Amino acid sequence: MDRIGVGLVGTGYMGKCHALAWNAVAPVFGDVPRPRLVHLAEANLPLAEKRAAEFGFEKATGDWRDLIDDPEIDVVSITTPNKFHAPMAIAALEAGKHVWCEKPMAPSLAEAEAMAKAAEGSGRVAMLGYNYIQNPMVRHIRKLLSEGAIGAVNHVRVEMDEDFMADADTPFAARNEAANGYGALDDFAVHPLSILQTLFGNMTRVLCDMDKPYADRPIPDGTRRAVENYDAASVLFHLRDGISGVLMVNRAAWGRKGRIALQIFGSRGSILYDQERMNELQLYQAAGRESEQGFRTILAAPLHPPYDRFIPAPGHGLGFNELKIIECRQLVGRILGENTLGIGFEDGLEIERAVHAMARSFQRGRWEVVV
Ligand SMILES: NC(=O)c1ccc[n+]([C@@H]2O[C@H](COP(=O)([O-])OP(=O)(O)OC[C@H]3O[C@@H](n4cnc5c(N)ncnc54)[C@H](O)[C@@H]3O)[C@@H](O)[C@H]2O)c1
Repeated sequence: MDRIGVGLVGTGYMGKCHALAWNAVAPVFGDVPRPRLVHLAEANLPLAEKRAAEFGFEKATGDWRDLIDDPEIDVVSITTPNKFHAPMAIAALEAGKHVWCEKPMAPSLAEAEAMAKAAEGSGRVAMLGYNYIQNPMVRHIRKLLSEGAIGAVNHVRVEMDEDFMADADTPFAARNEAANGYGALDDFAVHPLSILQTLFGNMTRVLCDMDKPYADRPIPDGTRRAVENYDAASVLFHLRDGISGVLMVNRAAWGRKGRIALQIFGSRGSILYDQERMNELQLYQAAGRESEQGFRTILAAPLHPPYDRFIPAPGHGLGFNELKIIECRQLVGRILGENTLGIGFEDGLEIERAVHAMARSFQRGRWEVVV
């Protein structure tokens, strides 16, 4: 394939992030063909035309189906709200396109299963937007674990917190409706789950509690509407290879802006990482003289690939959008037949199963097996 033809659906927060990645992947990595930005779809034509001009796409449409039917497109980036993921991804796969779809897969497990089924046997690549696993520091944690740097891992603790729902007077929004999911669980617990899956594999059983810090939120007519889902969740879990752990997520956590704090405890040491300080990790090794033992800070550097593709100097730091460029390189690599790091629809379905098992556990008040 000389040039990969790209279609982009949606141009909000993630749509722009995908567009930046498609524009940057060839110059940054230098080992893949420059993609051709063919067609962009938005909810209406004027917005699509505006964004196509800004992002460098050749054609614009107010109907995403035009893009699916376009023979010049090889891969479709889906960056629309969750409820559109299943119909758009399935239509794209059925039309013979590769798919790069934002997380989570879909609000219901049945839709996520249908997406995985459409991908299976399609002969096309179907990858999800789990960008945090692409951080060179997370990749380095994976390497350290595989080398036994902290011995056998026995316990993992992970917290994900943001504060966009922390104010009791933040207006009622679609994300507060039950129709859009359980709340913090599927809105963002899937991110820490993607990191756990990448480092350790899938969850086997879970015990979950969920909380609603505010019972209602303001609506435009001056009254308040009851909040239908949960902004916080706490989960005990077991991983497939016998590791126990705790997952806590809260989207009403004042002061936390993009926290994904990971603590990994092993038989010979510990590793700490926090996405808010995404260019460093802390390593403790129970080795050498006890009087000098302590956590060491390791800064991101060209020795932590693919940091070297962006910056030749250590400690200067990558950012969120660069994780998407790395993810884009993994996607293109898969399309070209390479075995790359990324979460496809099949593995993504395991993450969805864990989320739904957590919700069942909360509803039934007991441990649930992830199935
Ligand atoms: N990977 C991450 O770190 C990350 C971060 C934020 C959001 N997300 C995911 O990205 C997705 C989008 O979230 P966002 O924050 O970018 O939302 P957003 O509201 O900023 O953008 C969504 C865009 O989709 C467009 N759209 C809606 N309906 C459409 C239609 N029928 N056809 C074409 N375009 C349509 C909207 O006009 C808007 O521009 C969600 O699934 C979300 O979970 C992922």
